[in-house]
Amino acid sequence: MNRSKIKGVGHYVPDRVISNDYLSTIMNTNNDWIVERTGIQERRWFTPGKDTVTSMSAAASKMAIERAGLEVKDIDFIVFATITPDYFLPGNGVLLQRELGLQGVGALDIRNACSGFIYALSVADQYIKTGMYKNILVVGAEIQSSALDKSDEGRSSAVIFADGAGAAVLGVSDSENAGILSTHLHADGDYAEELYCSDPGSSREVRISPEMIDAGDFFLKMNGNAVFKHAVVRFAEVIKEALDANQKDKSEIDLLVPHQANLRISNYIQQKLGLPDEKVFNNIMHLGNTTAATIPIALSEAWEQGRIKEGDLLCLAAFGSGFAWASALLYW
Ligand code: UT7
Repeated sequence: MNRSKIKGVGHYVPDRVISNDYLSTIMNTNNDWIVERTGIQERRWFTPGKDTVTSMSAAASKMAIERAGLEVKDIDFIVFATITPDYFLPGNGVLLQRELGLQGVGALDIRNACSGFIYALSVADQYIKTGMYKNILVVGAEIQSSALDKSDEGRSSAVIFADGAGAAVLGVSDSENAGILSTHLHADGDYAEELYCSDPGSSREVRISPEMIDAGDFFLKMNGNAVFKHAVVRFAEVIKEALDANQKDKSEIDLLVPHQANLRISNYIQQKLGLPDEKVFNNIMHLGNTTAATIPIALSEAWEQGRIKEGDLLCLAAFGSGFAWASALLYW
């Protein structure tokens, strides 16, 4: 059986920088609260009319393909993780496929929110292992800012979530010592409404009504405390599961790339694992929480900064809406 390997990573973030001070002019918040409670100093929001989930993911994908030493035509499948597609239907995978000129290539959408990229990676990993595909584009991209309630009521979510895209090319590993060792996926739908967006939903007489708009039900709703409490437990569990499955010790991790939910969550996990700063990658400080895009953007930035080297043992881990949580252990 083949082993799959990440051959290239790329990312795109919108050029519109949203500072904490700017947010404090449109809602009742302040820089000190945001930095202390989330670690975020600034984030990027898309420019309407310029950025789309498709355009951002295409830019990230082209970068990943080039860094993989491949051409766009070498991609034979797309797995696209997003909960904020450009259209309600069809999914965003086909839109990216069209943008890249890959008509005919299969495209699958994954809707597992913050864990979406690891779920997508896991699906792609199975296809590479079985030999069904050779070079799969695995994408995480989101425009969250248009789903945020930017009033005082929505401030705890509005200061966190942001926009961006990341991509990885997953191909066949040509070495025993490189590639994905295992992926671990979990979910618990009992908590679906702790972080969700109810409208537009299908099970209503009409999907969108003026009443729904007035009620603001199309905004993202999050019970931050509940999510936080579950996140710290599940992150630790799912990382341990990945290490145990491969008989590895936490001290062997060269770089932990956690989903960028809140810097306090990442710091807690780091402390629990006893990892030094150089073994944990965080970029939430300047990019906020871009849901499914955080891990591929982080991989791309870490690679650019020389924080990932050939042969390094990487652990990816995520937790979010669903609740869904996941991890992956891989040699770069
Ligand atoms: O991406 C994956 C899923 N998401 C997450 O993992 C996020 C997990 N949750 C969190 O990151 C945190 O729960 C938040 C950052 C969302 C909130 O932080 P917190 O420390 O849990 O704050 P809190 O909700 O307990 O609120 C504490 C206080 C409240 O005021 P009172 O009731 O103590 O007077 C809030 O009203 O902070 C207030 N508050 C704010 N103040 C200024 C909430 N949001 C803000 C704000 N600015 N933006």
